[in-house]
Amino acid sequence: MLPASGNLPSLANIPSLQSANTGGTVAAATKKTLLMVKDLYVSFPTKGAEKATVVNGLSYEISEGETLGVVGESGCGKTMTSLSLMGLVPGRGEVTGEINFNGRNLLEQTEKQWREVRGRDLAMIFQEPMSAMNPVMTVGQQIAEVLQVHEGLSKRSGVDRAVELLTAVGIPSPLRRARDYPHQLSGGMRQRAMIAMALACRPKLLVADEPTTALDVTIQAQILDLILELQEDTGMAVQFITHNLAVVSELAHRILVMYAGRGVEYATSEQIFDNPLHPYTRGLIETLPDPDKKVERLHVIQGSLRVQSRQGCRFAPRCTLATDECRVIEPPMLEVEPNHYVACLKVAP
Ligand SMILES: Nc1ncnc2c1ncn2[C@@H]1O[C@H](COP(=O)(O)OP(=O)(O)O)[C@@H](O)[C@H]1O
Ligand code: SF4
Ligand SMILES: [Mg+2]
Repeated sequence: MLPASGNLPSLANIPSLQSANTGGTVAAATKKTLLMVKDLYVSFPTKGAEKATVVNGLSYEISEGETLGVVGESGCGKTMTSLSLMGLVPGRGEVTGEINFNGRNLLEQTEKQWREVRGRDLAMIFQEPMSAMNPVMTVGQQIAEVLQVHEGLSKRSGVDRAVELLTAVGIPSPLRRARDYPHQLSGGMRQRAMIAMALACRPKLLVADEPTTALDVTIQAQILDLILELQEDTGMAVQFITHNLAVVSELAHRILVMYAGRGVEYATSEQIFDNPLHPYTRGLIETLPDPDKKVERLHVIQGSLRVQSRQGCRFAPRCTLATDECRVIEPPMLEVEPNHYVACLKVAP
């Protein structure tokens, strides 16, 4: 269990954080689909003729109010997937497929439409808050600016609302902190301030890309608790990205496990933990420390992401179950039990 995050003020009284949905927390399954990503590819030109494809035909969806955990080791394409949602893939990166959000394919919109969606309906928080914050503006001014741009608030009411938001994310002495510059805050407080900024316009979806990775364990737990609490109060959906499966175990309704730019297993959290079917997911679960064992035994998945097959299953070079067939045929993602999808030739529906 995560430790409690302390006594946060009630968010229900803060207009900018009131739920966009009605009816509080409803099981994700009964809710409307908010985001549907279909056959997403992200590639970059290389010096040679071939493109480097870093996200490779990824499909998933998120319902209103749902938390999706996206898990996979470093370099598997998690950040590129999130940046695609935000329209922020760097350089000459090419994004194809469909990103249907709130009834619109984001990949067909103009830059002006992207700017309208970003920060209002869709917000993102990063591992390193400094990358998302302006170092020469106070924290309060930055949050107020978001509210001025998207909600047409005056400067004065923007600053007042910023202080309310800083209070809501559990920042002590919020009035004073609003006048601080980002570098004057501790890592944990900066992360909270970025969350306040991201939540300023009540986004329908918060994309959280490893937001706790740079923090120490106690602060990590507090930030996770804060996100959970804010989600319950606001009804927003969350795409929570991490390389650590343990982090999403208490947070996510569904989990998407990625390997080398592809989805390999996609199911509810219960299914992933009670009945993991893909050899890579099984390996990830075996690496989690077992709380019942006195001596922690850490299993390791042999090999590295860099060793991948160019053909067939990308996990084959590291898979103990691999056969010749696996090195030739690319496993399709199939529904093996209701709402449980797996891409492995040895797991039959
Ligand atoms: N600007 C870029 N140009 C080309 N390749 C990139 C660029 N940024 C990241 N990559 C590559 O894309 C792959 C996926 O990266 P990323 O999405 O950041 O992974 P993750 O977030 O899962 O660690 C990596 O192999 C990385 O080297
Ligand atoms: S398809 Fe073959 S190599 Fe790939 S995960 Fe399944 S058993 Fe392993
Ligand atoms: Mg990343």
